[in-house]
Amino acid sequence: MEAPRIIQLPRILDKRGNLSFIEECSHIPFKIERTYWIYDVPGGESRGGHAYRNTDEFIVALSGSFDVVLDNGIEKKTYTLNRSYYGLYVPKGIWREMTDFSTNSLALLLASTPYEASDYIRDYNDFILSR
Ligand code: TYD
Repeated sequence: MEAPRIIQLPRILDKRGNLSFIEECSHIPFKIERTYWIYDVPGGESRGGHAYRNTDEFIVALSGSFDVVLDNGIEKKTYTLNRSYYGLYVPKGIWREMTDFSTNSLALLLASTPYEASDYIRDYNDFILSR
């Protein structure tokens, strides 16, 4: 299984404004089947708190900042995302939670599968048993 990791994205620096991009199977190690975004998160709220059986994701802070806490069942690691030119690759089978959203933050998530409720593991004990 691939490990979670920060992936730097291309940066085209320009006096008119900078530009970054993502190509599936090139900058990120999967084909993009779905894109969603999380916004207007009230202070103190967290999102996520689940694992996926079969979905790989790539998470970018397009604006503002937030933390992604990853837990492989043995250890937890917190990644702070606060720039739009890198992101966090989260392979399937990792418990993840998104916390500490700054005001007006915007999280972009690219996923390797279409949405399917049955792909979620929402109970932490079930996650531990699934490993
Ligand atoms: P969910 O992934 O459960 O968010 P969180 O884990 O942060 O609470 O999604 C919340 C709701 O949105 C859930 O009812 C399912 C729906 N949803 C979709 O319909 N399509 C999607 O791609 C996603 C991510 C969620």
